Amino acid sequence: MDDARAGQPGTPPRSVGILGTGRIGAALARLCRDAGFEVTAASSTDDPAAACAADVVLLAIPLGRYRSLPRERLRGRLVVDAMNYWWELDGARPDLDDPTTSTSETVAAFLEGARVVKAFGHASAWELENLGRPAGDPGRRGIAIAGDHAGDRATVAVLVDAIGFDPVDAGPLAAGVAFEPPTEIFGSDATAAELREMLGRFPRSQRGRVVARARGDV
Ligand SMILES: NC(=O)c1ccc[n+]([C@@H]2O[C@H](COP(=O)([O-])OP(=O)(O)OC[C@H]3O[C@@H](n4cnc5c(N)ncnc54)[C@H](OP(=O)(O)O)[C@@H]3O)[C@@H](O)[C@H]2O)c1
Repeated sequence: MDDARAGQPGTPPRSVGILGTGRIGAALARLCRDAGFEVTAASSTDDPAAACAADVVLLAIPLGRYRSLPRERLRGRLVVDAMNYWWELDGARPDLDDPTTSTSETVAAFLEGARVVKAFGHASAWELENLGRPAGDPGRRGIAIAGDHAGDRATVAVLVDAIGFDPVDAGPLAAGVAFEPPTEIFGSDATAAELREMLGRFPRSQRGRVVARARGDV
């Protein structure tokens, strides 16, 4: 691929940056390296410059600390939010528990100018490390992808497929609310076909009804 096109919407990524080197960050770093991507990971004490310059930057820090992300360095970048609101870890955070806004939209509002896509957060590190399969394997699990630009979702889909999972296009970033905790998809270890069914019935689920009421959709 032409160097100038790497990192542009719709082009396959070659390099992956990861912010956060804990459980999920380390798992994704290993998987991406094994799949042949050039990986740069940064912990909270590292200079994030190199990780932020990658074609795709994965966010794998506790969601409650999203305001510590290097916003200026992420401007214009394709950023994949793998974070979830987990009150035991993040504490009570009404800003992250507001059903009118998915947590990835909150992160996107903070990361002004970044192209934010939500993916990987509904899978556990264990699932990612143990359930990856080659394309076409009937037991291959799916990973849902939500983002406002089809080209960016397509780029992230390349990454998902490369590490052993079937990408499932869930539509715009706001749709990511259907795979946050607490939803049916979160932690479900589901195939792509099962994920599509769950996405389809989300509006009728208990959480779906709470979200719809809060957003004034009913
Ligand atoms: N664990 C899972 O199976 C899993 C699966 C899917 C999604 N997630 C989500 O992914 C996020 C991380 O979970 P985790 O289990 O990996 O947590 P974790 O093991 O506690 O790791 C979080 C890491 O982020 C680092 N960090 C904090 N602020 C940072 C910053 N500004 N820049 C770079 N690194 C920073 C922390 O470093 P310090 O220790 O130095 O602060 C720590 O190493 C959470 O939102 C979680 O809900 C987790």
